[in-house]
Amino acid sequence: MTLPKTVEEASVVEHVWLSNQVRKLVLYAPQIAKEAVSGQFVHLRVADQIDPLLRRPISLSSADAIDGKISLIYRVVGHGTERLSRLSFGEIVDCLGPLGQGFALDAVRPLLIGGGMGIAPLVFLAECLRPAPIEILLGGRTKEELFWTEIFKDNCEQLHITTDDGTLGTKGVTLDILPELLQHGKFDRIYVCGPRPMMEGAAKIAKEFGITCQVSLEAHMACGVGACLSCTCAGKNGKRHKICSDGPVFWAEEVF
Ligand code: FES
Repeated sequence: MTLPKTVEEASVVEHVWLSNQVRKLVLYAPQIAKEAVSGQFVHLRVADQIDPLLRRPISLSSADAIDGKISLIYRVVGHGTERLSRLSFGEIVDCLGPLGQGFALDAVRPLLIGGGMGIAPLVFLAECLRPAPIEILLGGRTKEELFWTEIFKDNCEQLHITTDDGTLGTKGVTLDILPELLQHGKFDRIYVCGPRPMMEGAAKIAKEFGITCQVSLEAHMACGVGACLSCTCAGKNGKRHKICSDGPVFWAEEVF
């Protein structure tokens, strides 16, 4: 079991909108920033929050051990994230973390694939994989969802985009162009984070090409530290995994 290393009273240093539903929250949390690796998450509770009582797990989009800041990119979708979205400069957040198992960083020629809010942890991953030559494949419904291109532009060699409606990049979904990318690239690792069908599909294609693949799973979480079993998923051979502490990052063959 992965135990929480730190519960930190983190203060808000920046909180900006990236789209009409997505915000970037930067917190001063020096202990967590020092320990975090890409793929991990924090479990947040607004300090004065009574309702809802549960924390919210949010993946790390960056952690800087030098300036002590971590950043989180999240979509405002319910009561908890709506309350989070009202935090202003200097307010305090109860921040538990860093939690979970991160990505393996030994790739020589990585391809990062992200869809929806699954793109958020890939920002940190791309930073950590540098100076490896990174290519990134992002998918969204429409170009308004792909503000991410600006975020990634300095941290990759090539960015490939798909949108469902064709308003940016190739019309279609990420899996439509993945086989062609793998034919022409010399990738030795695929990292995928996004909707489950996308991750399953990418893992299957990666296997066909003989490329190792890591996926980052999402789940509703209560404790976040492997104690309550609210986040388990089925693995191979009847084994069950706790997404919060065995993951959220898994080798594809462990879970698909
Ligand atoms: Fe409690 Fe994973 S959230 S075991």
